[in-house]
Amino acid sequence: MDVHYAVLLGALILSLCSASANDKPAVGQAQFPPTYVPSGGLMFKQYCAACHGADAKGHGPAAGSLKTPPPDLTTLATRHDGKFPYGYVSDVLLLGPLAPHGSAAMPTWGPIFLYLDKRSGTAVRQRIKNLSDYLASLQVGQRPFVGRLSIRALYLRSV
Ligand code: HEC
Repeated sequence: MDVHYAVLLGALILSLCSASANDKPAVGQAQFPPTYVPSGGLMFKQYCAACHGADAKGHGPAAGSLKTPPPDLTTLATRHDGKFPYGYVSDVLLLGPLAPHGSAAMPTWGPIFLYLDKRSGTAVRQRIKNLSDYLASLQVGQRPFVGRLSIRALYLRSV
């Protein structure tokens, strides 16, 4: 295992553990429901921005210490035929990067989320949905509708 990765992951797990220990509500305060899931934007800032950058373009403070640079997550749609790849993002989060030579520098979030959510599959799916929706909202250079219209127009003209 890459040393940087081990250190980063260790720090991350420690911060997640201490965060949940500090989250115990004071007496009289409203308690989070057992499957409370934070918004995608908040989770991105807490779990992802260190590597991928606050703007998701891949320039987080920890990016320089990784052998594989964290990809720009605002071009996911551009790199997947103009459509945000929900299935791919969900697989990467649950199982880790899937490229044949994936660097393993990206943490596998599935087990971490399962731990945080006390093994509730519904809550883990909600986390991944919130994160995916947030990432989908950051996509750049997308004109899928216009693109599809012009492809349709070209097709109609050709028949
Ligand atoms: C420790 C640094 C690090 C953290 C923290 C991290 N990532 Fe990554 N991420 C990477 C690296 C490095 C890659 C590229 C891995 C590869 O291709 O082998 C990657 C790849 C990805 C990919 C695939 C991108 C593509 O272009 O194919 C997605 C999606 C992703 N990360 C989302 C997230 C989300 C969401 C979070 C937070 C929940 C997160 N990452 C946290 C380092 C990190």
